[in-house]
Amino acid sequence: MNTQELTDTARKLVAGDKGLLAMDESNSTCDKRFAKVGIPQTVEARRAYRELIITTPDLGGSISGVILYDETIRQQKKDGTPFLKILAEAGIVPGIKVDTGAKDLAAHPGEKITEGLDGLRPRLQEYFQMGARFAKWRAVISIGEGIPSRSCLEANAQALARYAALCQEAGLVPVVEPEVLMDGEHALEQCRKVTEEFLRNVFIQLNCQRVLLEGMILKPNMVLPGLSCPTQALVDEAADATVHSLLRTVPAAVPGITFLSGGQSGELASARLNAMNVRFKSRMPWALAFSFARAIQQPALEIWLGQETNVKTAQQALLRRARCNRAARRGEYAAMMERT
Ligand code: 13P
Repeated sequence: MNTQELTDTARKLVAGDKGLLAMDESNSTCDKRFAKVGIPQTVEARRAYRELIITTPDLGGSISGVILYDETIRQQKKDGTPFLKILAEAGIVPGIKVDTGAKDLAAHPGEKITEGLDGLRPRLQEYFQMGARFAKWRAVISIGEGIPSRSCLEANAQALARYAALCQEAGLVPVVEPEVLMDGEHALEQCRKVTEEFLRNVFIQLNCQRVLLEGMILKPNMVLPGLSCPTQALVDEAADATVHSLLRTVPAAVPGITFLSGGQSGELASARLNAMNVRFKSRMPWALAFSFARAIQQPALEIWLGQETNVKTAQQALLRRARCNRAARRGEYAAMMERT
């Protein structure tokens, strides 16, 4: 394992005020998002959409790394230029989603286990050869009646740690994504408890599997009430709960924490990240950044609608969201930036 290279890459991903752009939706998730806005669900439409994203002028000014999907990392622009070449020219580090999805956990109704460990070593070697320098694996935990179970938390934490160790062996920085889902009526306090318990399990397992903490990135959920909870948190309450949970559970050796957006609106995701950086910047041992998919992409997708004539305007919307999140890293985000 080249510890220096892993540490350098991890630091580079969260350096300054940039963050990650997740564009690693599986084909089925991408198709579902296309169907919602009436875009045809074809390989060509997915390719054209990803071309729109990565050719956005000055994307590299706000985005340090993008997370790709297996289909996308092998694709090219319409003129034949490989996507990986465009990213290299923009100074953006390519990453790759390597889990194969969350499946039902046997004997645990309502709970999931993320799969993809079988055959992972050669897949990681191939991605490294292609030029990827980091990877992502997402584990999902639902809150509900009697769940999550301890066994589900432990099984997912162990899979995340085994994935992370394999990544580092292959020279890839693992982005470790333990996500507590927002669906449900649960209160903020319940999300806090589950998030902390999950993160504790994750770091126990990461240590057990000898993962170099300096050479990884954590991609957690923010601590928020469920989407159907009648009491929604104020921006500062969510920011405080999230940072307190992270301070209790995430070792200072981890260079950066890059949040997923998880179904929050783009504006709220930026406002919450901003509040965390305003209120805690001097007290946090790690960089607090973003690795959003929907909270960066959604406005662009809704403008593009599969039409070539909308590409420029969609790219402007994408860049605006990326810049808003960059400002949130500095604690300088304001809602009016959404319109300028
Ligand atoms: P969202 O920001 O849309 O939650 O996606 C992040 C991600 O990478 C999910 O795995």
